[in-house]
Amino acid sequence: MATFINLRNLLEHQIEDLYSAEEQIIEALPKMAEGATDRELKKALNTHLRITRDQKKRLDQIRKILKKNAGEESENSEGFLERIFGGGTKCKGMEGLIKEGNKVLDEEMESTAVKDAAIIAAAQKVEHYEISGYGTARAYAREVGLRDVEKLLAVTLKEEYTSDKMLNALALNKINLKAETSGGTKASAFTAARKQASKKSTSSTTATNRTAPRKTSGTKRSR
Ligand SMILES: [Fe+2]
Repeated sequence: MATFINLRNLLEHQIEDLYSAEEQIIEALPKMAEGATDRELKKALNTHLRITRDQKKRLDQIRKILKKNAGEESENSEGFLERIFGGGTKCKGMEGLIKEGNKVLDEEMESTAVKDAAIIAAAQKVEHYEISGYGTARAYAREVGLRDVEKLLAVTLKEEYTSDKMLNALALNKINLKAETSGGTKASAFTAARKQASKKSTSSTTATNRTAPRKTSGTKRSR
């Protein structure tokens, strides 16, 4: 017989998954910041560590709210959800992403700029996982009418988007460029055109307006 689970059960599972993800990120970020060379990148990663600690506290608040008005079916669904998403409370998705990121950090690279570019890529994978998780959880909370939970999740989701945008700007405007020309490699025609376009641009000094005339590879633009 099929097990009965509802959207509320999925929300509870999603919150536990995010909680584990944040715990793992808190453990991993200091090593990432230490491995980074660029000052701005180091600062961004350390700032994100502080933000992540607050996000974990926010999840604690959510857990309390959920516990307060938990239904009987919550306990019945546990075994079923474990069968679908894997046993234990450790977020396996985040575990894999962090493992990948650690490989980058442990690798000896001649160019610190290239390593920084790889660290940004790893950090953005983490951000995108979180954006997806928090976006889903917020939608569930809205659907089941848990307005307080929805609001708390929306705050974190906004922070995740901001962090991703900041990493993106850092990669596109600085670190990818440095990585491309590290070790004496000649800049591509694209980079030359980009530098030219940046010189001509007098209208704004914002990061987004100084980006390339066409999309770069390697780093996704955020919304
Ligand atoms: Fe987070």
